[in-house]
Amino acid sequence: MTRLEKILDFIPDSARTVADVGYDHGFLIEKLVTGLPPRRVIGIEIQEGLDQRFWSRSRLPRRDFEPLIDFRRGDGLQPLVPGEADCIVMAGIGEGTIRRIIEAGRGAMQGSETLVLVPSHPPTGLFHDLYAMGWAITREDIHLEKGYFYHLSTLCSISSLPAGKVRPQFVGETLPENHPLLKPYAAYIKKRMIRAFRNAHRQPPLRKALIVYLNRILGKPPLDDLLPE
Ligand SMILES: C[S@@+](CC[C@H](N)C(=O)[O-])C[C@H]1O[C@@H](n2cnc3c(N)ncnc32)[C@H](O)[C@@H]1O
Repeated sequence: MTRLEKILDFIPDSARTVADVGYDHGFLIEKLVTGLPPRRVIGIEIQEGLDQRFWSRSRLPRRDFEPLIDFRRGDGLQPLVPGEADCIVMAGIGEGTIRRIIEAGRGAMQGSETLVLVPSHPPTGLFHDLYAMGWAITREDIHLEKGYFYHLSTLCSISSLPAGKVRPQFVGETLPENHPLLKPYAAYIKKRMIRAFRNAHRQPPLRKALIVYLNRILGKPPLDDLLPE
């Protein structure tokens, strides 16, 4: 499966209207409106003119598919009306931007059942922050394509989930320990963090908890040279 096919697989069948934030070329949109179940898409882009570029590039007959695709220009969820989309997808966008879009778009997300996130780079503190905003991971996977790791997740509103369930807040927490990409992925994230946070003493508690978690996956002592105590 390609990254795009996996993203499609992460969108629940129950979602009949999907908002694709940052659709760019619109490859996901094409798959959504031509596949099953039948779906309507709201494509949101910050860049101007990408709707016209889509219709010039795509082989989909415009007359047949225009009623199914609603292109809107704007920042994040600003162009979305609450309750319009059952599922909101953000793929190929950085974790900082995703966090900001969700934070600013709380109102627009009311009535949306699921979020599907595939950040452009492996996320670190994103799910911890989203948990604090009321969203928890219900499904995740790691995908490797052309040498790049991608983290895919489906999130639901915590209030819609059964009470008392342990809520994963770090990448990979719902995956089986023998997932073939879990260890290489943990090593990759840790390497990125080492580069970004050389001074261990400045690590906030979340980063420390994440490193302890990654070291557990990697079979290493919880506190290593990155986190001397
Ligand atoms: C790398 S492309 C990803 C395209 C596609 N979603 C994918 O995963 O293959 C990221 C797209 O997100 C758009 N984008 C970035 N920030 C955005 C924002 N705040 N609101 C809407 N679109 C945004 C960019 O203009 C760009 O077209």
